[in-house]
Amino acid sequence: MENFNFYIPTTVYFGKGEIKNLASSIKQFGGSKVLLAYGGGSIKKNGVYDAIATELKNAGIPYFDCDGIRPNPPVADVRKGIKIYREHNCDFILAVGGGSTIDAAKAMAAGVCYEGDVMDLMAGGKGEIKAAAPLASVLTMAGTGSELDMGGVITGEVNHKKHTIMHPLLYPKFSILDPTYTFSVPEKHSMAGCFDAFDHLLECYFVAGSESTDVQNMMNEGLMRSIVKNAPKVLANPEDYDARANIMWASSMALAGFQFVAGKKGSNWPMHGMGHELSSLYGMTHGETLALVAPSYLAYTLEKAPQYTWLFANFARNVFGVTEADDNVAAKLAISKVKEFADSINMPKNLKEAGVEENKLAYLAEKATEWGSIGALCDINKEDALDIFKRAFN
Ligand code: NZQ
Ligand code: ZN
Repeated sequence: MENFNFYIPTTVYFGKGEIKNLASSIKQFGGSKVLLAYGGGSIKKNGVYDAIATELKNAGIPYFDCDGIRPNPPVADVRKGIKIYREHNCDFILAVGGGSTIDAAKAMAAGVCYEGDVMDLMAGGKGEIKAAAPLASVLTMAGTGSELDMGGVITGEVNHKKHTIMHPLLYPKFSILDPTYTFSVPEKHSMAGCFDAFDHLLECYFVAGSESTDVQNMMNEGLMRSIVKNAPKVLANPEDYDARANIMWASSMALAGFQFVAGKKGSNWPMHGMGHELSSLYGMTHGETLALVAPSYLAYTLEKAPQYTWLFANFARNVFGVTEADDNVAAKLAISKVKEFADSINMPKNLKEAGVEENKLAYLAEKATEWGSIGALCDINKEDALDIFKRAFN
């Protein structure tokens, strides 16, 4: 096992009614004037906004709204939040929403402590994160794991490319996870969130170095199994508390401290790299892009890195209960099981059905590899990426 650091400073309040901890926790972390960041209005319809406003008012904590943060958050939404924060001399950021809102809030937290433009602070940019405003999240949609990790994804202006912002200072100070807040998430987004979390676990499982990481692999398999079990329950009954709770906790755990890739050789998140290009070009929902790419990526990887056949076979047996004894056969079944799972939760079946034009596949492959080869078990270069996109087309 490779050496690694493990650090998760976020306090989690999990369960129905845990919003009661909001005001005291903000005060605990020095907040006295809050920038309240949220999305397109779902929280005003489902009562979450009112619950938060009541808590803050009762505690005498003033707050200033930054509403309208869009999915796949554009940097303009981040800049807007930075402006409001500065105008009102806020000292705390509360993100209420899904990954897009929390990610935008993380970029705001770094941006308010930086004199230049916030895009400088994205990975590979010319700036450096040296300080950040304290932030916390109230999660309303399960999937990304942003509530318990230190990263965010922001859509830039050039080609709508998605950029990562990452720093230990961007861990939320606390996150409130009330599964009832997710009852109102529309089916499409609930299921996309389930696949997103599942894919985070895939990205951390099919990584070189997995030979030696039994703890990470077996915990990961358990989480994947819990998503495969509970996603259909949420689909059948969106108000199934325990199913929502399990999906919420599995999603949070999936990326918490990037624990399941710890001790391995490192991953550059190839399925995410390819999926992000679909969001950049077509504005597609994040989890759906992953469902479109994952089966083809895994099939291609198995062919190119047959020395990992055992890992695919383990996955088939331990996540999907495949009983096939022959590793080669079980490994192939692993891929059909992932596809069956995606289909069973109503993810788009292929790129064509999702509205992707065939003549854009080469562009997508080029963009997905523009910063170098991707791949976690083998190199995926531009030609490989094109092959994967072609397999995913129909
Ligand atoms: O904007 P509102 O009106 O709130 O509606 C949202 C939005 O339309 C809606 N929604 C959320 N909670 C709801 C609800 N509707 C009704 N009731 C509720 N309780 O759901 C829609 C999607 O929300 P969004 O935040 O965009 O979804 P998600 O949580 O999937 O976030 C996606 C973003 O996270 C990034 C993705 O790239 C994408 O930009 N990711 C962030 C990661 C991280 N920080 O670690 C990792 C992920 O891999 C991912 O890349
Ligand atoms: Zn994701």
